[in-house]
Amino acid sequence: MCGIVGYCGYRDCSDVLVDTLSKLEYRGYDSAGIAVFENGEIKVKKSKGKLKDLKAKMEQCGKPVGKAGIGHTRWATHGKPSDINSHPHSGEKVAIVHNGIIENYKQLKEFLISHGETFVSDTDTEVVAKLLGYFYKKNPENPLATIQSTVNELEGSFALGIVFEDFPDVVYATRRQSPLIVGVGKDEYFIASDVTAIISYTKNYYLIDHDEIVEMKQDGVVIYDEYGEEKTKELMTADWDAESAKKGGFPHFMIKEIHEQPNAINMTIKPRIFDGMPNLEECGITRENIKDFKNIYIVACGTAMHAGMVGKYVIEKLARVPVVVDIASEYRYRNPIVGEGDLVIIISQSGETADSLEALKLSKKMGAKTLAIVNVKGSSIAREADMLIYTHAGPEIAVASTKAYIVQLAVMYLFAFQLALAKETINENQCRFLTQELESTPKVIEKILAEKLDMTQFIATKLISADSLLYIGRGLDYALSMEGSLKLKEISYIHSESYAAGELKHGTISLITENTPVIAVATQKNLLEKTVSNIKEVKARGAKVILVTREDFSVDKEAYDYLITLPKMHDILMPIPTAVPLQLIAYYTSVERGNDVDQPRNLAKSVTVE
Ligand code: G6P
Repeated sequence: MCGIVGYCGYRDCSDVLVDTLSKLEYRGYDSAGIAVFENGEIKVKKSKGKLKDLKAKMEQCGKPVGKAGIGHTRWATHGKPSDINSHPHSGEKVAIVHNGIIENYKQLKEFLISHGETFVSDTDTEVVAKLLGYFYKKNPENPLATIQSTVNELEGSFALGIVFEDFPDVVYATRRQSPLIVGVGKDEYFIASDVTAIISYTKNYYLIDHDEIVEMKQDGVVIYDEYGEEKTKELMTADWDAESAKKGGFPHFMIKEIHEQPNAINMTIKPRIFDGMPNLEECGITRENIKDFKNIYIVACGTAMHAGMVGKYVIEKLARVPVVVDIASEYRYRNPIVGEGDLVIIISQSGETADSLEALKLSKKMGAKTLAIVNVKGSSIAREADMLIYTHAGPEIAVASTKAYIVQLAVMYLFAFQLALAKETINENQCRFLTQELESTPKVIEKILAEKLDMTQFIATKLISADSLLYIGRGLDYALSMEGSLKLKEISYIHSESYAAGELKHGTISLITENTPVIAVATQKNLLEKTVSNIKEVKARGAKVILVTREDFSVDKEAYDYLITLPKMHDILMPIPTAVPLQLIAYYTSVERGNDVDQPRNLAKSVTVE
């Protein structure tokens, strides 16, 4: 998704803008641009492509020299990636950058055309620039009033960075739905879509609320509420540093983040385990306030939704509460049957996914209690929910989520244990044992990472020329396979599908031909025999089977071609270690195919539009 930045300070603004934008590259983008005050004039430079293309352009035609400005990476929505469609866009004496979507841009464009405006791009953003210009002409002394009048007309989502020609070295910003923070350094200030952009300059920041307006100069920042009154905001401090957002010797962020998983689990679960038992009181969750929930919905998108799939199996098994997992974009438009007495769990790494956020708001409106499981502190979903469990994965830069997924699973377990205790479907001894197993997962992952890199890399070489492959499993193995399959698709660009092993015969087995790769996951004792029968069915039809199973299970050698074994754990905890080889297989397949592992084509890390 688009990223916005802005700067007022003593450094070379163009350099700071390009540098801070480079920290937002992970969000996904296809063009970039900046606008900087140079001797009181706004100078715009923009280019289709990556930041290196923008830099090359500036090397050729000169970069703007100044101390204040705004910048943007664009992930195309309205209009194809092109120089013209890139931000910043300009109106009368104003230039802006924008993240989000203006839903009523067509009506506004018609209105502006009828008042003599002309447009050069296909974007919704240019409409905002022209509308700002329209209001500014009426009240040229007052940028604040101009911004207020403009945003009052906008429908949709936006975070805007704005500069006015008549107010040199001042950067304005505002937001609705799309995220925005203000970084507070020493004699310098920043705006950005997230903290990652500014962390190498400052760890201190303000979270900007809907419709607040920021006025930023080198000597200070003022934040106004929607009525134009000055606001005092709480200064937040990021609890991670610039090093966490660097590759630290790894070739890609994704493999670095896979290796960070043991630590991420420890950081997430340790503060929530006392005396060997789960304790989620600091998150507003007690046995008393969760024991009466009759139905649970887990609503999320992408990988987070897959964490919910594992959560469903675990909660239903341990706490005997029915759980429906729903894709946020489906849930919010199908009038879900949810209300008082129900719990809706929203899982989100970024805490900003537009559909998940709307699903949360809808659930609250319908009377359900909401619990958010979120990685990014102070994000919109975190602030909106009744109960909140932060995952502590630290910044996740690779678009393909790994460590954020693992900690979402870890939280699902803690919550399921706590709920099962509250429902009295497990006793304290059973809970203590399961909690201990959960606590041992970081060590188990370390062992897998120490032993399985070569094997997964070797398996990747067998997959690189496949057109399509299948992941199969039953129960928790099926829930986990969904994530394994998504990971592979996202970064290797090979089609794959995950299928409940028992359902194969009802259609999908017709896809198996000689050498079709099938990744079979079999870690559940009670389902082992059944899954092995399904594996033999695909093997008999020519499939090349990669079996992922436990070292204490013995499976007939005829059933598979390649084998990955995992340390033994309680069945219910197996998804955590099993996720790791599936992530590695996807990673190495992408590397072997020469793809851009961390920024796969067409994808964005944080999807802040519908
Ligand atoms: C995008 C990302 C996925 C992520 C999904 C949900 O599609 O590429 O990795 O799982 O959004 O994001 P969230 O931030 O809500 O977990």
